[in-house]
Amino acid sequence: MSFKEKIFSFGFIVLTATAISAADASTDTISLTTKHDQLTYSKASVSVKTGDTVKITFKNTSSKTAGLQHNWVLVKPNTADQVASASITAGADKGWVSESPDVIVHTKLLNSGESDTVTFTAPEAGDYPYICTFPGHAATMKGVLHVK
Ligand code: CU
Repeated sequence: MSFKEKIFSFGFIVLTATAISAADASTDTISLTTKHDQLTYSKASVSVKTGDTVKITFKNTSSKTAGLQHNWVLVKPNTADQVASASITAGADKGWVSESPDVIVHTKLLNSGESDTVTFTAPEAGDYPYICTFPGHAATMKGVLHVK
């Protein structure tokens, strides 16, 4: 392949990729809650497309009497256990969220009845775990953001 041909094919790939992402990119508005006083999210999985603007609102719908605090923390593939442990070490002052680079985005720590919305661009394709990093919750309070 000549230099000129290489430049042409590279340019073609870039143009094609841009056209596809521009046509497909959209905004995904997702609502998540807790399941009453159980340590689980209302959705165990959510699917979006790479490049989409993802707007997630998480509401802590547990009862006032239960006094449970929760958050929603999206992490890089296969890092849920490490981030959960590191978040316990981070402590209450940090809202139980590790400053690890494996954390992609997270809501505030929410009391009963509170909600928070985070907006981010869906990363490259993969399965991204989301967990509640309040100590002891991540074992069951988890799900997967499938990015296609
Ligand atoms: Cu929780």
